Amino acid sequence: MIGHHPFLPHLKALLQAARLARGIHVYYLEKGFSQGTKSGPNDLVTQADKEAEEAIRDFLLARFPEAGFFGEEGGSHGSKEMRFIVDPLDGTVNYAHGFPFYGVSLALEVAGRIEVGVIMDTARNETFYALRGGGAYLDGRPIRVTERTELLGSLLATGFPYDVAKDPENLTYFSRALRRGLLVRRPGAAALDLAYVAAGRLEGFWEVKLNPWDVAAGWLLVEEAGGRVTGLKGEPYALGNRYIVATNGRIHEALLQVLQEDLE
Ligand code: IPD
Ligand code: CA
Ligand code: CA
Ligand code: CA
Repeated sequence: MIGHHPFLPHLKALLQAARLARGIHVYYLEKGFSQGTKSGPNDLVTQADKEAEEAIRDFLLARFPEAGFFGEEGGSHGSKEMRFIVDPLDGTVNYAHGFPFYGVSLALEVAGRIEVGVIMDTARNETFYALRGGGAYLDGRPIRVTERTELLGSLLATGFPYDVAKDPENLTYFSRALRRGLLVRRPGAAALDLAYVAAGRLEGFWEVKLNPWDVAAGWLLVEEAGGRVTGLKGEPYALGNRYIVATNGRIHEALLQVLQEDLE
């Protein structure tokens, strides 16, 4: 099915771009890197974030000059009809500490729809990718979400924005989940969290205040792997929404209910 997909050339280019990013992540991890902060002391940006984004942008736009580009570090430029949405290093805090859970997330959006998604774990060298209508894969093998139907015992992940102290909304959901006895992790790289739902390593994931570059590729991966992605009330997800809930589908309603339920 993947063999004749109209966006196969874009998938191939995104896979190459992910490898370029990996080279940069690995290089700076070995050599050492300069770093600074953005919105606050925990919101780090390193030389690897910036150089990976430049390398990805130059590579993709040389190949597809008509496309626009929307990256975390450089903002949005060019066409919005067809554009690449890129997080050059997802999990920067993990990366800066040598905690091996980070990667790169690349998506192609055409007429407002994500058509291709690639997420590479650049520490483990695992590559997750999906083509709309063509399925989801990990290193060339098809992946599926899990078949677990019970929320209790399901493995879930979430994350927090850098300004969580000022905007602690997700603490409410986190606390509701823990008080219900759910198993929750906070791995620290939203794109990989979504890829893990797609690959059946997690049953579900939710987060508040993510950006389009964090979720564009993972959203498609979860759906192509047979899962479900919505907002907090079960409404269809759209890029830029404040809430994202992504699951294997089977635990979705039960998770939405726990997140919305006031125990007090
Ligand atoms: C962050 C990570 C983290 C999530 C934050 C994101 P960055 O992205 O995905 O898991 O909780 O909300 O901002 O800054 O490392 O690319
Ligand atoms: Ca960042
Ligand atoms: Ca990110
Ligand atoms: Ca990033």
